[in-house]
Amino acid sequence: MAMLILFIILSILVNPSSAKTNYNVLSFGARGNGVTDSTQAFINAWAAACASTEPTTIYVQKGRYLLGPVAFKGGCKSSDITLRIDGTLVAPADFRVLGQAENWVSFDQVTGVSIIGGSLDAKGSALWVCKAQAGTNCPNGATTLSITNSNNIRINGLFSLNSQLYHIVINRCQDVLVEGIKVIASGNSPNTDGIHVQQSKNVKIINSSIKTGDDCVSIGPATNNLWIEGVTCGPGHGISIGSLGKDMEEEGVRNVTVKNTVFKGTQNGLRIKSWAKPSNGFVKGVQFIDAVMQNVQNPIVIDQNYCPHNLNCPDQASGVKINDVLYQNIRGTSATPVAIKFDCSSKYPCKGIKLQNVNLTYLKQVARSSCSNVIGTTFGLVKPDNCLSLD
Ligand SMILES: *[C@@H]1O[C@H](CO)[C@@H](O)[C@H](O)[C@H]1NC(C)=O
Ligand SMILES: *[C@@H]1O[C@H](CO)[C@@H](O)[C@H](O)[C@H]1NC(C)=O
Ligand SMILES: *[C@@H]1O[C@H](CO)[C@@H](O)[C@H](O)[C@H]1NC(C)=O
Repeated sequence: MAMLILFIILSILVNPSSAKTNYNVLSFGARGNGVTDSTQAFINAWAAACASTEPTTIYVQKGRYLLGPVAFKGGCKSSDITLRIDGTLVAPADFRVLGQAENWVSFDQVTGVSIIGGSLDAKGSALWVCKAQAGTNCPNGATTLSITNSNNIRINGLFSLNSQLYHIVINRCQDVLVEGIKVIASGNSPNTDGIHVQQSKNVKIINSSIKTGDDCVSIGPATNNLWIEGVTCGPGHGISIGSLGKDMEEEGVRNVTVKNTVFKGTQNGLRIKSWAKPSNGFVKGVQFIDAVMQNVQNPIVIDQNYCPHNLNCPDQASGVKINDVLYQNIRGTSATPVAIKFDCSSKYPCKGIKLQNVNLTYLKQVARSSCSNVIGTTFGLVKPDNCLSLD
């Protein structure tokens, strides 16, 4: 009897989703041998789960599954689908197969989907090499995991390795929780942003580690109520709101909190960036709280004069209005003498900038701040000495 009870408890622990309908991709023809193309098997397993009226789990056991571009589309009967991956999804060795697709693994118009575990090895480095050799024949590359037009999404414990382009994109979604993920790509890999969020509401990114060649997290237009907590970035370009204001008509970014972050040797720490172009975009209500900078080139930076190659925007001012940004408990080291740089729009100065308990040093010396067109206040200790125009 005791054995039986123990057995039942163990089964529940080993297979917590046992109450759900369970589809194993192996029974749809997938093979975890690294060489059999399992794309169609995954699509068929999804179709079965999607047609189910009950909570459903698609299970991927240990092994390496070769997958080409795979799109999981919505219109499902079930609004509770878990994709539980104990194995590794592997991209084809020829980078052109993914390179010409926009996305590798994508979810579109789904509701109530959880992606638990899983390693996604996009094998992006061959494409980076192609691009570095200035090859004109290199494809653009694919995003590793794209979630679009979807609600109530959870990504937990995923590991994304060597994406061709962005690792994770969340676009036009609502209620998304990303927790305990790990992203790794080389510090000089092009456009391999960790997580890009745009046109989305109520997104949370917590307890994650992102090492990459571009932004750790990048935040695009029409992002509302974004919460980032417990994220470690570096190498890479740091956490960036923007680039914004590329288009004339653009929805703003509102209510972003970035808390308990660590930046290790990144190009930027906490950045807000907009094109030097007229635009009706805005940034309003941002809180940067408790950040540690370790040898970061631009720990705190607002750059509203972004105009790469001076094309289409020389001598223009950004129309993006930046308001109410708090920097609280930001400490550590800058890799350059200018630890705080506010380079705001000459047409619409940044307003409501608050610095509270900031202590940034440069090679054990006093660092500097640089301000243009910025209005705000300080509280408590602020090092380097601030240069804000007073409110
Ligand atoms: C992050 O993980 C730690 C350790 O597991 C946990 O204590 C903490 O609550 C988590 N943070 C968030 C925001 O969930
Ligand atoms: C801001 O976003 C957080 C979640 O990130 C949410 O809890 C809070 O209610 C939002 N505040 C407003 C004023 O919408
Ligand atoms: C600021 O940071 C430096 C370097 O870590 C440290 O030596 C100094 O005591 C700090 N200042 C305050 C007031 O905390």
